[in-house]
Amino acid sequence: MSDPISSAWDRLRECPQSTLFDLFGADPERVGKLSRRLDFALQGHDDVGMLLDWSKTHLDDPLLDSFEALATACGFEQARADLFGGGIANPTEGRAATHGAMRGSGTQPHVEEAEALLARMGMLVDAIHRGALGEVNHLIHIGIGGSALGPELAVDALTRDLSLVDVHVVSNIDGLALEQAFAACDPATTLVAVASKTFTTIETMTNAASALDWLGKNGVSDPGGRVIALTANPERAVEWGVDETRVLPFPESVGGRYSLWSSIGFPVALAVGMEEFHALLAGAKAMDDHFRETDGRANGPLLAAFADQYYTRLRGCQTRAVFAYDERLAMLPDYLQQLEMESNGKGVTIEGAPVSAPTAPITWGGVGTDAQHAVFQLLHQGTALVPVDFIASIAPGDELDPTHHRQLLMNCFAQGAALMAGKESDDPARAYPGDRPSATILVDDLDAATLGALVAFHEHRTFANAVLMRINPFDQFGVELGKAIAGQIDSGEGQFDASTTALMAAAGLR
Ligand code: F6P
Repeated sequence: MSDPISSAWDRLRECPQSTLFDLFGADPERVGKLSRRLDFALQGHDDVGMLLDWSKTHLDDPLLDSFEALATACGFEQARADLFGGGIANPTEGRAATHGAMRGSGTQPHVEEAEALLARMGMLVDAIHRGALGEVNHLIHIGIGGSALGPELAVDALTRDLSLVDVHVVSNIDGLALEQAFAACDPATTLVAVASKTFTTIETMTNAASALDWLGKNGVSDPGGRVIALTANPERAVEWGVDETRVLPFPESVGGRYSLWSSIGFPVALAVGMEEFHALLAGAKAMDDHFRETDGRANGPLLAAFADQYYTRLRGCQTRAVFAYDERLAMLPDYLQQLEMESNGKGVTIEGAPVSAPTAPITWGGVGTDAQHAVFQLLHQGTALVPVDFIASIAPGDELDPTHHRQLLMNCFAQGAALMAGKESDDPARAYPGDRPSATILVDDLDAATLGALVAFHEHRTFANAVLMRINPFDQFGVELGKAIAGQIDSGEGQFDASTTALMAAAGLR
């Protein structure tokens, strides 16, 4: 007899697979059934509103019934309760995942700890704005992966109109990245944020040392006094030389790629002010509440995860694409790549057994309309089936003639319609197969609160996918081996394969 999870997958595999054309034809209520309007009234901040339209995916009632049964078999409700209840959501590292607490969703002790840490960050941000560290016009934020992508996304999205401080996020060890930031900053009015959960990451520590060197060589008498550390390892930051008053800690149980809400968000707060940062948190909290309190298909992130599982495990899609029809979200595909691929790109289940089906697809994407003129050919006529997400804002971010925004939205909607409808032609080269899925997230306006809700939506979607696949989304051991081998190359120890040895010799590394 098969176990309940296998039975649920068997049932899913037995569901009839209809075309989108047939699904729309068969059910006039389809758009209403597979769309969710989320309206969040936030205290002290602008309300958040967004429409989630999953009707152009192949989900239908039999599939949704079966996915809901799968969620039950996988213990989704208990896993969700454990996540918010501070249970061991990350068993391989034996700890909770408390990023939700940073925005007020979690156990009382976790939330109180988060509030105290954010209050500390707020005091430093306000003090800097008031001139406590002298004139500050620039911030070079040094971090990588989760210590860079969230801040970069949020700063880029929220500072188009006004930025209190000019922020440059530098992640790559390639010195060109840091040189570019140096060229744009006046050392006399520049602060350096060193963002690293572990405070050991080689790229970040090397870049931080070079940034201090640059300050010192350019007339700053106390370079160390210009550094702020953002870390879950405050002792190490102090050892490295950062004054305790400028170390902003965050809890170990907040994962790197989930850390935007913690002191890793310092550059965002410095650029837009603490009030806007709190709006970002409030938007995320509202999405937490929706995710926590809504069951089954009515739950937006869970519905999205049902579609993700359908395409990955039942239709064999190896990639999924995200196109933001909004310049302010240009960094979103990069951000989602880490969130989804580092979380769910796993080969073993939560029990440590090899997975029996594919896990995270490759997340990729870009901005519309640019991407239409570069990669959409493959989406429309290529041989790979790629589920697409479109993300757009009803309110424009620009102040130019409204025709810009109108064209932007029209193009976004046209692409989803074209992917689905396809087009017949006597000439095979000019025919479009159609029946290609997409989902659309249409936000009312892309402000700080909405961005918070959007990012939290994807965090919960990623978590829901992990629960349905029975994997741990909160560890990332797959990144360690390459780091260890780089260390061996650096120290000259260890034996390498003939190809690597030849490459090292060619580059003069040996
Ligand atoms: O190598 C991967 C990783 O550990 C990510 O998970 C993390 O976001 C990034 O490196 C940076 O790590 P840290 O914040 O400790 O410098």
